[in-house]
Amino acid sequence: MERNEPFRPGLENVVVAETALSWVDGEGGRLVVRGHPIEALAERGFETMCGLLWDGALPSRARAEAIRAGLGAGRALAFRELARSPAALEADDAMEALRAGVAALRASDEPLERTGFRLAGAIALLLAAWGRRRLGAEPLAPDPERGHADDLLRMLTGAPAPAPLVRGLDTYLATVAEHGMNASTFTARVVASTRSDAVSAVVAALGSLKGPLHGGAPGPVLDMLDAIGSEERALPWLRAELAAGRRIMGLGHRVYRVRDPRALVLETALARLEAEGVSSRYLGLARAVERAAVEALDAHRPERKLRANVEFYTAVLLDALGMPRALFTPLFAAGRSAGWLAHIAEERAVDRLIRPRQRYVGPLPENDGGSHALRAVS
Ligand code: COA
Repeated sequence: MERNEPFRPGLENVVVAETALSWVDGEGGRLVVRGHPIEALAERGFETMCGLLWDGALPSRARAEAIRAGLGAGRALAFRELARSPAALEADDAMEALRAGVAALRASDEPLERTGFRLAGAIALLLAAWGRRRLGAEPLAPDPERGHADDLLRMLTGAPAPAPLVRGLDTYLATVAEHGMNASTFTARVVASTRSDAVSAVVAALGSLKGPLHGGAPGPVLDMLDAIGSEERALPWLRAELAAGRRIMGLGHRVYRVRDPRALVLETALARLEAEGVSSRYLGLARAVERAAVEALDAHRPERKLRANVEFYTAVLLDALGMPRALFTPLFAAGRSAGWLAHIAEERAVDRLIRPRQRYVGPLPENDGGSHALRAVS
């Protein structure tokens, strides 16, 4: 391993794992989860996605019920933990609250699935409790009988949510549950590869998800739509942003060279909501801004094909569901927790420490010849 070993910033195109979980087809614009296209899975909801990811096959009705009960028990447990140590809710930022609240969970050598229930339950409970605290209300106890999306909405708003909203959130959680070797999933796998515990792996993944280049983008997407305000202003506004060297949120992707297939899945969920009487105040503007952004980005980086990613319509959908933008990234975490767990299980089976190398480019000691150290690799 010497000076001609290539260094790839951002590990671009470096294969770091073999997985049976999902295939992100960047050229064809497809997402396949354990053999199923995301379009066919999204409407089946979060519990089904957990079963598929964790078991390797679509769950039977009885298995889906068991997952629903497990998640309900996880939320109930998290509510009791929160009563014992409520400090996490004091955080100004919802992702900080999640990170602190999840970090307070005990590591355990229980079966991984049970840790998965505790983690997914805690994320849902904490984000709802933080959202209520922000409105000056006390956290609501979960109703373990309800589905995960249904109860999450109820715990947040204080009342049972109408069926179209429950279905909309359930579709969202399933859509974002798994997506290849994204940064937070890789983070979780690195931690798992040291034989550390799953709680630690998910705490680390939450930190990774928070960044604006990953799960932090959808809030700023709405900020952008607000700043643009009307269709005619879109193109000049976007061109000015690019000229100032800023990135357009919700566009571009490391793997996709075409539109992210999940953008259409979420747009379809928005159309269904509209048909059910729940309209989005942003959808028309968002579509116009997407068209203008593609035009502006094609002129800016013609070779790169920067297109809408999942975050663009995540912002529009979660807003239509009545979710405050401060909770957009925590809701992403709620869905992605299913994928993180499945990757932790895969990494445990591999059981090989992830430990890449680096090229040292600093100085060598004087008595080493004093030359530049391009050959030192550690
Ligand atoms: N707006 C403006 N320029 C963008 C851009 C965007 N949304 N996305 C990429 N670019 C630019 C980059 O700055 C880079 O330019 P440079 O070579 O002058 O630095 C060039 O296009 C190539 O970038 P690329 O290699 O395709 O990006 P990446 O793989 O490093 O990053 C993202 C992928 C998603 C982080 C990036 O597209 C981005 O920042 N998007 C906005 C944030 C976002 O939506 N995140 C959610 C991701 S699901």
